[in-house]
Amino acid sequence: MERKKITIRDILKMKGNKKIVAVTSYDYPTTKIVDETGVDIILVGDSLGMVVLGYPSTLQVSMAEMLIHTKAVCNAKPNALVVSDMPFMSYEYSKEKAILNASRFLRIGSDAVKLEGGSEYKEIIKGIVNSGIPVMGHIGLTPQKHKQIGGYRLLGKTYSEAKEILNDALQLEDSGIFSLVIEYTAYEVAKKITEKISIPTICIGSGPYCDGQIMVINDLLGLGDYSPEFAKKYVDLKSVIKEAILNYKTEVESGKFPEKYWGMKNNEDKKKFMEE
Ligand code: KIV
Repeated sequence: MERKKITIRDILKMKGNKKIVAVTSYDYPTTKIVDETGVDIILVGDSLGMVVLGYPSTLQVSMAEMLIHTKAVCNAKPNALVVSDMPFMSYEYSKEKAILNASRFLRIGSDAVKLEGGSEYKEIIKGIVNSGIPVMGHIGLTPQKHKQIGGYRLLGKTYSEAKEILNDALQLEDSGIFSLVIEYTAYEVAKKITEKISIPTICIGSGPYCDGQIMVINDLLGLGDYSPEFAKKYVDLKSVIKEAILNYKTEVESGKFPEKYWGMKNNEDKKKFMEE
């Protein structure tokens, strides 16, 4: 059966009816595979800076890099809703700049943008939404602010932090976002937010009481040497890839590969060419 493209309306309708499944993807072939599984949302996350480009954090990721990876993902024509992360300093300093940068993702095929931050970005988000660009919020641990937060730590552990995160969620809902990522936050806070707001919450490291879950694909597949404590490795792809490459190396060195090869069109040409 042919699957239909997932829209913002579909995502909104999933709240309370079906758990939303979201995963990151950063390139064309992976997106093809991911989309065949029928996930609901593909996020071109700025986590690509760390897991694909080898940067020390997401702070180094540029608009140009996010656009290239978004294009690769969109070229796979996924049915899943494609959301692109707005990188550090692409939306913070003016509403106009934020709208223009957000529009660049939609022009190349993305369905929505995501940006990190709480109530301080309310007016900027309103501006983007009023321009016709769907926005996904991202609160709790916001990796682009890890220096300000004091590292990649669990948030919402104290009453005042929990209140602040809840207030951020309410303010962002009011700004017109269609869904909200809650990262590495005490589960009680994520649960209360999920009950209080009318749009879907999508959690990562914030417990099971959310409308959906998101994971970084490299963590899920077991690529790379480091994963956060809330990630779950569903396959050890690093070992699978290593074994395949080692088999190839052994076969090249022993002369077993290649087994198939092709020759010239006819014997006359071959004789003439070989004897020259
Ligand atoms: O960049 C990313 O992959 C993200 C997810 C962790 C939600 O923002």
